[in-house]
Amino acid sequence: MTRVLLIGNGAREHAIAEAIMRSQQNPVLYAFMKTNNPGIAALADGVRLGRYDDLRAITEFARESGIDFAFVGPEDPLSNGVVDALTARGIPAVGPTRSLARLETSKSFTRNLVEKYGIAGNPRFRNFPSLDGIAGFVDELNDIVLKPDGLTGGKGVLVQGDHFQTKQEAMDLCRDILSVHPSVTIEEKLEGEEFSLQCLCDGFTVVATPPVQDHKRRFAGDRGPNTGGMGSYSDANHLLPFLDASAVAEGLEITRKVAEALRVETGVPYKGVLYGGFMTTRAGVRLIEYNARFGDPEAMNILPLLETDFIEVSRAIIEGRLDSLDVKFANKATVCKYVVPKGYGLAEGSSGDASLSSRIEIGDTKGARLYYSSVDKRADGLYMTSSRAIGVVGIADDLDAAERMAESAAGAIGGPVDHRPDIGSRELIQKRVDHMKRLTNT
Ligand code: AMP
Ligand code: GLY
Repeated sequence: MTRVLLIGNGAREHAIAEAIMRSQQNPVLYAFMKTNNPGIAALADGVRLGRYDDLRAITEFARESGIDFAFVGPEDPLSNGVVDALTARGIPAVGPTRSLARLETSKSFTRNLVEKYGIAGNPRFRNFPSLDGIAGFVDELNDIVLKPDGLTGGKGVLVQGDHFQTKQEAMDLCRDILSVHPSVTIEEKLEGEEFSLQCLCDGFTVVATPPVQDHKRRFAGDRGPNTGGMGSYSDANHLLPFLDASAVAEGLEITRKVAEALRVETGVPYKGVLYGGFMTTRAGVRLIEYNARFGDPEAMNILPLLETDFIEVSRAIIEGRLDSLDVKFANKATVCKYVVPKGYGLAEGSSGDASLSSRIEIGDTKGARLYYSSVDKRADGLYMTSSRAIGVVGIADDLDAAERMAESAAGAIGGPVDHRPDIGSRELIQKRVDHMKRLTNT
């Protein structure tokens, strides 16, 4: 029997829970969640609700349940030091220590690390603790991007042309940012197509999972505000239609060097997921950011394809022997679409939006997989709570079929809901391919 503690309550963690339960090693699942995810609860032997900064409650639950190891899903408990707290009690965990999780929590830490160790991939950037020098640096660059230091839930980045237009506006925004954050990173705006490369790391060996493309914008055609992610896709050949093997290898190489730099810099091996957000550009692959965890929705694309035993993979990460494991993924295409409350992601009035607390009906979703996120199971049915509700995933031999499957499942969920019908569609993917062709003149 292997007792695993999963920390987290989203659709990403539902996909992790499912991967754990597919293990051949008699898994018994315990879940520590901020809010009750009925999908995870249905798979778990024990559930504890609590806050992710209550490290004592988490370690107590782990100890009581006699767990063999913990798997940490989201960034909050990582940045609160849950792995340090568990390790201090002799409980191994998949996930970086608090110091190593700075890779995600501090944009400047990551940019400086990549620069210090001479790793390719940084755009031109500088970090500013005050307004001093910002005007001069901004004048040296064409379009710019502003990044506050600290966790901002993926919504803190301001891009010229999208969120502001002029350099004067940028100065005003920097002043606002510096009044609440310790520093701001300013970098050149890159142009290209983004991809997520989620890698497994035991501190020494780095193993890539298939690349995925996420869609952050709320509405079809990449319009509207940025969200946590409206859906994502991956291709059967473990590349993307606009991304060849050499670009994927570039992303992996950057991540290998970053894993090594982290070990040298902190003296501690990074054990967990290194999720690189990259952009393929005319000049090669560039690093946008690292996350210290699986992506949400991207975990739902790759975990269902994992053919190697997930508990075996987790143990290899903890014990530093990933090099001895053949981590395999099925050659299938996947399309994930998030079904969200109609009001999701709309700045004004979203917290008072009735759609956020409405009931939903799940009809015939045929062969698609469903991963619950912000939903609550009550006596009279399933209710949406605050955010993205359900990730539906189509898995098939090619993208067209996977897209049809996800689209039909998303359409089978009734209530005041919405999703992006264009994610994974031939038309949108062709736009990505054409964009890269235009940039590289091929
Ligand atoms: P992040 O929170 O770092 O993932 O940034 C959020 C989004 O901002 C990314 O997904 C990109 O779309 C965009 N972004 C961040 N940095 C840059 C950059 N240097 N150039 C262009 N877009 C960027
Ligand atoms: N899909 C973006 C993220 O997980 O940060």
